[in-house]
Amino acid sequence: MTSALFSIQPIAAEDIVFWRRLRHSLWPQASIDEHEREIAEILSMPDRYAAFMAFSETKMAVGFAEASIRHDYVNGCDTSPVLFLEGIYVAPDARRQGIAKALFKSVEQWGTSHACDEFASDTDVHNIDVQALHRALGFEETERVVFFRKRTAKVEST
Ligand SMILES: CC(C)(COP(=O)(O)OP(=O)(O)OC[C@H]1O[C@@H](n2cnc3c(N)ncnc32)[C@H](O)[C@@H]1OP(=O)(O)O)[C@@H](O)C(=O)NCCC(=O)NCCS
Repeated sequence: MTSALFSIQPIAAEDIVFWRRLRHSLWPQASIDEHEREIAEILSMPDRYAAFMAFSETKMAVGFAEASIRHDYVNGCDTSPVLFLEGIYVAPDARRQGIAKALFKSVEQWGTSHACDEFASDTDVHNIDVQALHRALGFEETERVVFFRKRTAKVEST
């Protein structure tokens, strides 16, 4: 997709440096090695994962979206497989120009071409901006989930 201000393209091998930089802005807790590993995995499974990049008219990488085809249960959905948005990020000075909307559109086209009838996503309960974005793009809220964990008790083997 192309507008006067930006274009959306599937991420290519030559975009990896920009992709990693934008990924780090969204997920700063991940190490460079983790980003590299995940990028390699996405690129190696084009029927399972997709990634799109937004470029400004001056060819700067200003945003990206990653999606997957999920065959396991997806909260709130009742078909399978489900198209799932794994992450989306638009650089602060490029926001509110419709870039996320265009990225969603490219992701959705990829999902429908892979037999997905539902498009699902999740976000942190405190991420009001992303919730507003989803509503603006026609998503309905399905579930709120609380995650739990505990360390397992180690049993001494005799
Ligand atoms: C959320 C985010 C991706 C939106 O990107 P964007 O390119 O600015 O979004 P768009 O311009 O396509 O917005 C489309 C519509 O969504 C809604 N919307 C987007 N951002 C919004 C915000 N911060 N507050 C309220 N509504 C918002 C609006 O209705 C907007 O249309 P409008 O500008 O005509 O009113 C961007 O703010 C971002 O990268 N945030 C940080 C990263 C993040 O939290 N990612 C999600 C975790 S996976």
